[in-house]
Amino acid sequence: MSEPAPLPVNHHADHPGFSGVTGTLFGLVFLLTGGVTARLAADLTGVGAADHVVDIGCGPGTAARVAAGRGASVTGVDPSAEMLRLARRVNRDAAVTFAQGSAEALPVPGASATAVWALATVHHWRDVDAGLTEIRRVLAPGGRLLAVERQSPPDATGIASHGWTRDQAETFADLCRSHGMSDVHVADRHAGRRAVWAVSATIRS
Ligand SMILES: C[S@@+](CC[C@H](N)C(=O)[O-])C[C@H]1O[C@@H](n2cnc3c(N)ncnc32)[C@H](O)[C@@H]1O
Repeated sequence: MSEPAPLPVNHHADHPGFSGVTGTLFGLVFLLTGGVTARLAADLTGVGAADHVVDIGCGPGTAARVAAGRGASVTGVDPSAEMLRLARRVNRDAAVTFAQGSAEALPVPGASATAVWALATVHHWRDVDAGLTEIRRVLAPGGRLLAVERQSPPDATGIASHGWTRDQAETFADLCRSHGMSDVHVADRHAGRRAVWAVSATIRS
């Protein structure tokens, strides 16, 4: 019997749930659950006052807020108007710019970011190659990328399938390398009690 085809890294690209009332409800759930991953991202990238962080797929802005709390200037980007409305409302007191856009079309000038985060979002991107091209464009030399996804078994269904198998994490790492990124690593981490894959990379030049 032949092996099943490997899952693409954006196997939930057609997920319809981030607009309308459903989008707001999901946003409220992400607000309650996103704190540990946000702190993990800030720790792994060592974000501080010298940084401009672009948080792609920022959702309700939890990680953007954490980065701002560590002194970074931050741009949170999301295609969902509902997510951005929630993000602006709950982060009124945080120094974060929220902008509508997508991984495939980042509303950020070239070479302006020192760190790019993509937390629980790559599995939803329509076009991962276009997203990585954009990340290369916006990251300044020395800039770093961090993508985090929950660990999912290959046969996961429902919410549990909104993550990556080890193969998917390795495939994304290979895509980063093919886009000229350096120091690409896949790490097995924990965000609170949740096991996650953390894929990191840097731009050398
Ligand atoms: C599971 S939520 C994660 C939100 C946030 N990063 C967090 O950890 O709480 C996925 C987010 O990715 C966004 N998204 C979907 N497609 C996207 C794309 N092509 N580019 C950027 N963000 C996208 C969704 O609107 C949603 O806010």
